[in-house]
Amino acid sequence: MSEKLTIKITKLPLKKTPNLVVFVHEDEELTGEAADLFSKAGLNWKALSDAGDFCGKSGQVLDILTPKNLPIDRLLVLGIGKPQGDTLDEESADTPSSSTYWAEQGGRHLSVLKKFNLQQVALILDAPDMEPDSVAQICAGITLANYNFDKFISKKTDDENPEIKHWNISIYVKDKPAVEKAVAFRSATVDGTLLARDLVNEPPNSLGPVEFAKVASSLSSLGVDVEILNPSRMKKLGMEALLAVGQGSRRPAQMAIMSWAGGKKRDKPLAIVGKGVVFDTGGVSIKPAGGMQDMKGDMGGAAAVVGLMKTLALRKAKVNVVGVIGLAENMADGNAYRPGDIVTAMSGTTIEVINTDAEGRLVLADALWYTQQKFNPVLMINLATLTGAIMGALGQDYAGLFSNNDQLAKRLSAAGIASGEKLWRMPMGPAYEKLIKSRFADIKNIGGRYGGAITAAQFLQHFVNEVPWAHLDIAGTGFGTPSTDINKSWASGFGVALLDRFINENYEK
Ligand code: BES
Ligand code: MN
Ligand code: ZN
Repeated sequence: MSEKLTIKITKLPLKKTPNLVVFVHEDEELTGEAADLFSKAGLNWKALSDAGDFCGKSGQVLDILTPKNLPIDRLLVLGIGKPQGDTLDEESADTPSSSTYWAEQGGRHLSVLKKFNLQQVALILDAPDMEPDSVAQICAGITLANYNFDKFISKKTDDENPEIKHWNISIYVKDKPAVEKAVAFRSATVDGTLLARDLVNEPPNSLGPVEFAKVASSLSSLGVDVEILNPSRMKKLGMEALLAVGQGSRRPAQMAIMSWAGGKKRDKPLAIVGKGVVFDTGGVSIKPAGGMQDMKGDMGGAAAVVGLMKTLALRKAKVNVVGVIGLAENMADGNAYRPGDIVTAMSGTTIEVINTDAEGRLVLADALWYTQQKFNPVLMINLATLTGAIMGALGQDYAGLFSNNDQLAKRLSAAGIASGEKLWRMPMGPAYEKLIKSRFADIKNIGGRYGGAITAAQFLQHFVNEVPWAHLDIAGTGFGTPSTDINKSWASGFGVALLDRFINENYEK
């Protein structure tokens, strides 16, 4: 749940409104309808902005109580910094978050409204650089910024403003139909991202594998075909690796397969696979107590897959995509799997378990193999909160990208820059492969002391044949990231916007 928010797109001219908000770039004049209103009322923008020490720097606010002869009582001018350059260098991962520029402005706009407690506002977006998609991104930013997971907070009001808040924003534009179309497209992505955030934020006692699978099933109302595999089905299919992870839990492991068929019938699907460990205690190789509660987010990869499938269905994407998630709970119990156990994955590969806390790769081993055998996809991308080591390497701003295919890696990196969900490619190769050779089985589930994110990727590659494949390690970016203009929540929903962008750019045009 979040505070109530209504965004309405309205065609200019402006009607009477108590509070008007306009955006002004750094060192630029007030333009468009707002400027006309101003000069009609005999006001001088230059004098006012000088008096208010306002130059349009990002974050600046000029608060003007307007004279009687205007149809507004109060005008807030928000500085939005220098206009973003339109040369977006997709090769350079150094590009700042300029591609999320408008979404960030939207998020900031909402925090200003909240700070000033303005619940009824009009926002005029009629500047020449304001494309319909920029308006849509502003709307997306507002909605993402408003998201707050407070369903378990019983007292929702704060002392200063005890009334229930409802933020009403009327956005005034020149071309309403074009803007509405762009907004519908972008809100599909936002809705998917918010579903992913909800799943990751949800506590582990109320979201086990079965409950998670039910959320996946609920996408059938949007036209997604969903199939759920229970442990006995998985056992028949030979998924010993995934089942080993779940065997210490009272709550049975599940696999959910979601198919969206928006493309041509004969086109092979794209496949997206997610790690859905609903809670990761580490198992017998148990984790230390400090911070263990964060492991409720160990299904962030699966959450992104479900969120993505929702987005694709909402915007009726013209592409065939199958989403597969492996769901299990990693518990320490009398029936739990042990270090030393050897399990045979669905592929036939035998795995020596050295550490039961390296469980995500076991779940993915069977999910990847199953997906590849069953759907023969054009490509396979998996998302997983797989290793602490990727956080050591990249921190929390970039997710790790591992791939057997340069073109796929390039396309994903570009989509990362464009969506603001950034990826950094990591190496793979025989030197790392050696580290997971086992004395007793084909491979073991951990490498040595170093390169932990890479040896995890090498492990996954055993369950992928010739198909172009990419592994995204989102352990650092899926949750617990620093608050931003468009995410104030613990869970980020990382991956939905990224893969939506990747699919739309490369497979729907
Ligand atoms: N789910 C964890 C990885 C993780 C850690 C995600 C922190 C998000 C935040 C994963 O299952 C795990 O425990 N990995 C181990 C692997 C090790 C035992 C080789 C790790 O990273 O320490
Ligand atoms: Mn683990
Ligand atoms: Zn885990």
